[in-house]
Amino acid sequence: MLSPREMIDDRPDDNVFRVNRAAFTDAATFDREISEIFDRCWLYIGHASQVPDHGDYIATRLGFHPVFVIRGSDGEVQCFYDACSHRGSKLTRRTSGNARTMTCRYHGWCFNADGDCTLVRGGDEAYRSEDLERMGTNLRPIEQFGEYKGFLFGCLDADAPSLEDFLGGALPFIDLMADQAPDEMEVLRGESRYIMEANWKLQTENSTDGYHVATVHRNFATTVGYRETLATDGGGEMAKTEASRILSLDKIGSGGYDVGNGHMINWADRGNPEAGPSWAQRGRLLQKYPEGKVRWMLERGRTVTVFPNLLLNDVASTCIRVWRPLGVGLTEIETWCIAPKGEAPESRRARIRKYEDFFFPASLAVPDDVRAMEGAHTGSEALNNGWNDLALGYKTLVDGADAAAQELGVVPLNSNPGREVETPFFAFWREWATRLSS
Ligand code: FES
Ligand SMILES: [Fe+2]
Repeated sequence: MLSPREMIDDRPDDNVFRVNRAAFTDAATFDREISEIFDRCWLYIGHASQVPDHGDYIATRLGFHPVFVIRGSDGEVQCFYDACSHRGSKLTRRTSGNARTMTCRYHGWCFNADGDCTLVRGGDEAYRSEDLERMGTNLRPIEQFGEYKGFLFGCLDADAPSLEDFLGGALPFIDLMADQAPDEMEVLRGESRYIMEANWKLQTENSTDGYHVATVHRNFATTVGYRETLATDGGGEMAKTEASRILSLDKIGSGGYDVGNGHMINWADRGNPEAGPSWAQRGRLLQKYPEGKVRWMLERGRTVTVFPNLLLNDVASTCIRVWRPLGVGLTEIETWCIAPKGEAPESRRARIRKYEDFFFPASLAVPDDVRAMEGAHTGSEALNNGWNDLALGYKTLVDGADAAAQELGVVPLNSNPGREVETPFFAFWREWATRLSS
């Protein structure tokens, strides 16, 4: 079997970049990904708005480690391994909730929202104090925990660089979403989770793959377009979706960037930006930010794919998506709608309806994406030594910033003046190979 390094055929001098399909199907490579990427990389956990009050928690996994974030008595959020300090029983009972005291269901030890053990049942009689001291009864925080503008990340490697260093070139693009709110952003209520029978990296590629949109999502675009013709009351301008990226790609500006550390950007001008839920905020935003940044916020749809498993999507609606590997061919995907806190009811309504149209598990887009990715996974088993040749767009790839990037004041490692390109994938695969080769 090829090593991860051998699975990437990266020859810039020859304008060749290929990925061996074994990268999606090899079980030994998957095991290495868990230990060398998911156990060592900053990973998205959730949003601060999901845990507003003392005792609010969200339970999730970092790699295969169950963890939970919880807001403590001092108002600070911490992240702990979700394992009782006695004999390891998982403490949370739901994926989210409020618990100022967590009682372990196994032998009844209790913990407060600051991670302190408040009760060892029978402790005084049964335990010697030096034994309790040796075992350490308080909950164990994860090695590194960080927040960027409300987005919460955890990292199980104490020696990894800081969160902001890791996010690096993706930060200005994260700001385009986070800075839209007059106050702060909030993640909307509800949980949606689904399972895909495909390797997790197919979702990473799909997130920044502009090439599939016109085929896989034509169903979405034509259905929504037809629905708009039927709306007798018009439904208001904001109810219209933004499908120019699907139906008229040749007429709009678009592009893709490698912004370093494995992060990828894909963008396209919105055909009708006034239909965007945040358009009403334009005047306020122009007073606060440079015109170029506001144009990027409101007039360009963006997919920001953060290595290895996070997508911040701001197109017709706004979505956070995370995909977590369960096995080499099995992936759990979770999505949330994110919105400016306190936005007008008509904006919120339009945002949620458009989120349901495109991002919801039973939307007009997600099932089509899932089937496409599952097909790619199954097909990747078909051939020994099959290669995905990521040649699309290589001939238009340029070093540094294009005009649109200059407008935002950022300098990507490279730019491509088109959305239907595969060159942003190089960012992900180079980071992947580097991390698996160390
Ligand atoms: S495992 Fe939690 S109290 Fe025993
Ligand atoms: Fe898609």
